[in-house]
Amino acid sequence: MTKSIDPWWKRSVVYQIYPRSFMDSNGDGIGDLQGIISKLDYLQKLGIDVIWLSPIYDSPNDDNGYDIRNYQAIMKEFGTMADFEQLIKEAKHRNIRIVMDLVVNHTSDEHAWFVESRSSINSAYRDYYIWRTGNEHNPPNNWGSVFSGSAWEKDENTNAYYLHLFSKKQPDLNWEHEPLRNEIYDTMTFWLDKGIGGFRMDVINFISKDLQFPNGAIPPNQKYGDGSPFYMNGPRIHTYLREMNERVLRHYDVLTVGEMPGATTEDAQIYTNPENQEVNMVFTFEHMNLDSGPFEKWDVRPLVLKELKRNFEKWQNKLHRVGWNSLYWNNHDQPRIVSRFGDDQMYREESAKMLAICLHMLQGTPYIYQGEELGMTNVQFDAIDDYRDIETLNMYKEKRELGIPHEKIMASIYAKGRDNARTPMQWTADGGFTDGVPWIRMNPNTYGINAEEAIADRSSIFYTYQKLIRLRKELDIITYGNFQLLLPDHPYLFVYKRQTKEEEWLVVANFSKQMEQITCEECNVPHWKGNLIIANYDTLKIEKEIINLRPYEAFVLAYERRQ
Ligand code: NOJ
Repeated sequence: MTKSIDPWWKRSVVYQIYPRSFMDSNGDGIGDLQGIISKLDYLQKLGIDVIWLSPIYDSPNDDNGYDIRNYQAIMKEFGTMADFEQLIKEAKHRNIRIVMDLVVNHTSDEHAWFVESRSSINSAYRDYYIWRTGNEHNPPNNWGSVFSGSAWEKDENTNAYYLHLFSKKQPDLNWEHEPLRNEIYDTMTFWLDKGIGGFRMDVINFISKDLQFPNGAIPPNQKYGDGSPFYMNGPRIHTYLREMNERVLRHYDVLTVGEMPGATTEDAQIYTNPENQEVNMVFTFEHMNLDSGPFEKWDVRPLVLKELKRNFEKWQNKLHRVGWNSLYWNNHDQPRIVSRFGDDQMYREESAKMLAICLHMLQGTPYIYQGEELGMTNVQFDAIDDYRDIETLNMYKEKRELGIPHEKIMASIYAKGRDNARTPMQWTADGGFTDGVPWIRMNPNTYGINAEEAIADRSSIFYTYQKLIRLRKELDIITYGNFQLLLPDHPYLFVYKRQTKEEEWLVVANFSKQMEQITCEECNVPHWKGNLIIANYDTLKIEKEIINLRPYEAFVLAYERRQ
């Protein structure tokens, strides 16, 4: 039942590269495009179809490229336009498409548009950004920025405030202004005409703001109001996405994924229903917020597995046959999953494979973040000076000013800081990322966790990912089957079925280091003699009706369906 008319991205696997930390070819300590080209064979061996490149545009790097100074130029540290064109070509030889990061909620404050915009209230570029006068000494409203402090910055030159939902070097663009939208569409066309495979759209559901700019509710113990109800999934978001599609996207056969914090399943149905012609899939966050308190990510809580299962169940079922979702555990903003929901010590290998199997058997397009296929872990630097991420550094400063002890803040950084994902890729036992001094320290655990050793060991995490990617290409049930959650209240086991008319797969994953047991009856299967599709231990431990699951064990059994 191959659905050959379906778009290619439905059975693709995406690999995300954070170029700064992937591979340095010239010894300056910063990853670059030639470094990526030199590792394409590695990615081909893994089997991925698409590379999503975090931003490679010219940028002063206040937020590592998510602050763009020139949308049509390559960041000097990363190389040249010729390098980029070579990358597209070399990737194409290996059947790999390159998806670019489209960061158009904001630019850098060093972008020529903003330099012009701030120069005078009469500037032709004034309305490219969101300017408001405050009242007396206060900003226009109480919104806080995602990176701490107010979301408004006063510009003395014209005595007005500009909005920046992220750092003050990332002023928000004004999507109400048609000439701005036209410029963005031109830029998209510029890259598409170079042969790229699509766009990952940074916080794209933030581009339409409530133009009343109402104050947000102030969460307990916080200084600023939460403006998100007034800028997430805002009033004209669907209009803008449809216009973008009409003007640009529908003329190319590409993948589009909208990063959409705060999108509900109902929102996602609208964004991704093909009839609406907006984006192919969303990149959502509910499952990544389950181990935080309600008001901020730094308020770290243990994961309650039942909540994770219920969340996946909701997303799987609400988008089935309606729209499409991304599947991910990691990206450049998230801590490493093996440290987060697995065990990065004794059961690192087992739990990394378990997490991979559990995620990759779901419906959607999986995203693998660089190093995930090696089971790379979180990092713990003692000194705050060893950290580079603006979000982490601003938060540390703000909390220290409030008198919170260093150790307490560091504990939350160890659990949730974005630099956990940004330490350089571990290629060899002694690092292998650069001949120079890396821009951020390596994780000290490169010995034992690196690509060279992983490739040499047929039982490594790398090969579990390789197999999962291959299975998705070969077996339609992964792409098209429906989803049913079993044992919803079990505190340690994630058990689900995937079904088509002909087949039924049982996926079992133990999220704990304890032994657990399950019976055929609980799983609603006739016996344990299904076809073993993949597992992370050599054989299953079966005693009649019961399977004894070892720490972090996961397996998939396939059954023919009795008609
Ligand atoms: C989301 C990106 O993933 C993150 O890295 C960035 O800091 C913000 N958007 C702002 O662009």
